[in-house]
Amino acid sequence: MKKLLILFSGEGSNLENLIRTFQESVDIYAITNRPDAGGIARAKKYGVRVTVIDHTCFESREAFDTELLKAIDSIKPDLTVMAGFMRILTPIITANVRAINVHPSLLPKYKGGKAIERSFESGDIECGVSVHWVTEELDGGSVIAQDSFLRSQDESFESFSGKIRKIEHQLLPKVVSKLL
Ligand code: GRF
Repeated sequence: MKKLLILFSGEGSNLENLIRTFQESVDIYAITNRPDAGGIARAKKYGVRVTVIDHTCFESREAFDTELLKAIDSIKPDLTVMAGFMRILTPIITANVRAINVHPSLLPKYKGGKAIERSFESGDIECGVSVHWVTEELDGGSVIAQDSFLRSQDESFESFSGKIRKIEHQLLPKVVSKLL
């Protein structure tokens, strides 16, 4: 069986969606940098064990990334997916791990944090989601797939972010499936 590693920091809706999609056909592993991440409970529901590597226990990005790389190397995943993994990574990870990331904007627009908020506030009519290779440049690796929607007039932020989330949940499994 192929091995899929999912890295996450938060609620883990993408994590859960990937687990549900691939649990029968792929060996799934998960790592989080936050001991309080909501996704930990979601993963447990499906019997997926989560390794916690708390970034606040490390004195530098390099020290954290070295520990993370050790954990990844011990799993030897065929593919690593960053799904809401809120860390700026050093080349210790970016040069050594074959990884993709889901980002809630039409890259190259709105790289970095608060991308949903920034794309909502931009007033852009066409907005969407990108899945891209992880490289040293934050949200800058080549785009593998994108999907978009046209916002409706007077769309609320809740409706807007719901559409983004829905697209993420459709697009990311498609890309994972293709790459695996
Ligand atoms: C997603 O919007 C992802 O694109 C962004 O962080 C969010 C994670 O959501 N990088 P979840 O934890 O998968 O629910």
